[in-house]
Order: sequence, then structure tokens, then C-alpha cells
Amino acid sequence: MTKLLNGNQLASEIKKEILKKIEKNILHKKKRIPHLGIILTGNSSSSITYVNSKIKECKNIGIKSSLVHLPSYSLEKDLLKEIEKMNKNPLIDGFIVQLPLEKHINQDNIILSINPKKDVDGFHPENFGKMALEMKSFYPATALGILTLLEKNKIKIHGKYIVVIGRSKIVGKPISILMTRKTYPGNGTVTLTHSNTPNIENYTKQADIIIVAVGIPGFLKGKMIKKGSIIIDVGINTIKNKKKILGDVDFHSVYGKASYLTPVPGGIGPMTRVMLLKNTLKAALLNR
Ligand code: GUN
Repeated sequence: MTKLLNGNQLASEIKKEILKKIEKNILHKKKRIPHLGIILTGNSSSSITYVNSKIKECKNIGIKSSLVHLPSYSLEKDLLKEIEKMNKNPLIDGFIVQLPLEKHINQDNIILSINPKKDVDGFHPENFGKMALEMKSFYPATALGILTLLEKNKIKIHGKYIVVIGRSKIVGKPISILMTRKTYPGNGTVTLTHSNTPNIENYTKQADIIIVAVGIPGFLKGKMIKKGSIIIDVGINTIKNKKKILGDVDFHSVYGKASYLTPVPGGIGPMTRVMLLKNTLKAALLNR
């Protein structure tokens, strides 16, 4: 029997907790409501969809959001100018630059220019480095969402063998770092696999927990996993024309063999969005 890990339900419970914190620490003290800035470049339909859902989540919970949408032909210096405005604006508590960027823009220069105190994505090297050194900082939302979903469902990672598929800076690298931390939740043993790992199934067949974030629909098949393993699907692949979203896990062959599985949609997606809200509130409480 496979149990589906419901991210929607948990995310709405966490939103209630965030709301209570906003009431207690912000509204009752007559402080300004938290304010998230979002910078979006270009016309990628998936980036526009992600950003719209982040704005909607903010609105639902009473966090203010401001979107700056730059056209795809904008230059790196145009984007840097908008980042500098957000860095300097005392009314913005934290902000994100939606990734990926247009090819002519250097992503490293962009991330380096974000004030680490406002980096609610946790992508700036100062925050990422602190995370790797097990210091307090902003941690990337998807990784936090995965850890929270496991923790709230009482799934231990301590002593488990975890295989992460995909080494992205947004998901694969941060979740690998967080799961091996010498703290709770942590103490997992992680193998980070990627597009140059030969015979990935040699690793996945041994794994207690598999996290798939490769952006290839149906990549992880039932025959690649051990019976009773826990499968976390981070994929959000839009199937054009069909208006359907597919995960990186081949649901039909994995369902029934895994003990737990995150659905797509309704698994890691809502958990990621709620963790961005949590980081925004954290920035508002830290920075003022
Ligand atoms: N693109 C895909 N996921 C993310 C995310 O978590 N943050 C940003 N800024 N861009 C993304």
C-alpha cells in the first residue's frame, strides 16, 4: 500500500500557523505587514505561472507582494538596477528573482547582487554557505518544504540512505546538504546523482528515500526502486496542449511499490510556496 503525502493539506495548516504569527508579532504590534518583492524576466509560461501562484499565496495570507516584470530583451544591467532598488527599499522585507533567467544574463552576477538579508530564496552564497556550515540563514524553499513534509508525516531521515537525483542549486544541492546535517532533521546518508552518473538505478534500488528533481516526466520508474521506499517527486513538467502537469516519477509503476509518494500536483509544489511565505515573515521579523 502506498500512502500519498498530501502537500496541500499540510501547507494550509502551516499557513494558519504563519497567519497566527503575523497577527501576534506584526498586526497586534501595529507593525507594517510583511512585503515580498518578486522580479520576473521574460515570458516563460511556467515562470509566469509560478510567480502568479506565489502572488496569490501572499494575497491569501495577507502578505503584501510587489511584482517587477521586465521584458525578455532586458539587459543584465537593467535587472541589476531593479535588484538594487529592492535592496535599498526599506518597505521590501525580502525578494526573489524568478529563475531561470534569459540566456544573455549571468545568473551568478544576479544572485551575488541580492542583499543576503533580503534573500528569501536562500540562493546567495552567504546564505548557501551558512546552510552548508550548519549556521542559521535563509534556506531554499523547496528543500525546506521536503524536510517539513517528511517531518510532519513522522518519516525519519536519521540513519536512512537517501538518493537525490538532480544536482540543481535550487533543489538537489540544498536538500543533499540539509539531509546530511548533524542535527534534527538530518543525519541521513546521501548520494547526489546527476546526468553523468552511470546506472542511476544501482543507487536508487538501495535507497530508503529517493528525491527526484530532474525535470524529465516519468524519469523514476517502479523497477528502479526498492519495495517500501519513500519517493519525493519534485518535478513539475507542463505537458503542452494537454494542459497537464506531470512529475518526474512514473506514478503508475511506483504507486503500489513505494510506501510513501508525493503526488504531482499537490505534493511538493504547495510546500515550496508556503516555505517562501515563512521565509518572508522571517525576513520581516529579522530585518526591522
Ligand atoms: N524557479 C524554480 N524554482 C524557483 C525558486 O524556488 N526560486 C526562484 N527564484 N526561482 C525558481
